[in-house]
Amino acid sequence: MTAKPLSIVVLISGSGSNMQAIIDSLPKHHINAKIKAVISNKADAYGLDRAKLANIPAISIDHSLYDSRLSFDHAMIETIDSFEPDLVILAGFMRILSDEFVNHYTARLINIHPSLLPNFKGLHTHQRALDAGHHQHGASVHFVSNELDGGPVIAQAAVTISDDDDAESLRLKVLEQEHIIYPLVIKWLAQRRITLQSRTVYFDQKPLEKPIIIDANSWNL
Ligand code: GRF
Repeated sequence: MTAKPLSIVVLISGSGSNMQAIIDSLPKHHINAKIKAVISNKADAYGLDRAKLANIPAISIDHSLYDSRLSFDHAMIETIDSFEPDLVILAGFMRILSDEFVNHYTARLINIHPSLLPNFKGLHTHQRALDAGHHQHGASVHFVSNELDGGPVIAQAAVTISDDDDAESLRLKVLEQEHIIYPLVIKWLAQRRITLQSRTVYFDQKPLEKPIIIDANSWNL
């Protein structure tokens, strides 16, 4: 018997290229998951157009219309929960979430961050990696905790920083990796191979001592 598809709600604020990579990956990699809705806090987010093109309900909940972070988060929770998701995915969602929101979705809320965490939490990660003189940079997929970009990391992909890289060229290199690692982690979640228990990530029932490093061969795992 086939397992029930993992039901997903995606939260975005902008271009939604990671969301698009996930949409494309589901049939391509036979991932047993369905995106029930895409929600943006910005009505003009290009990602909403992408969702509509893919026949996915595209909803905007404008944060500026709410008088507090908590009232916005409550509205989000109400809408998200109407889709009964197994997993909520942050894909370039540029709002800090309240503890209440994060706690409500414990162990079923993940994010992608453009750095090799714990390096460079927060914004402007590419410029900061260059300024720090690093030779490697990358992206991380992690469970969301109450600490900004601080939750348990599931998987990472690294890129080499070249002498001629600037923040934009580095952003594009990292984004290419993001489009690989986010769908792959979702595949593993849909297969119920990844879980979070007491702040520890488990892969195939074994605690992960360190994040999974993803490369092209990882799709064969
Ligand atoms: C990505 O760099 C992601 O790591 C960060 O926000 C950006 C979103 O890009 N969290 P997109 O909207 O998926 O194109």
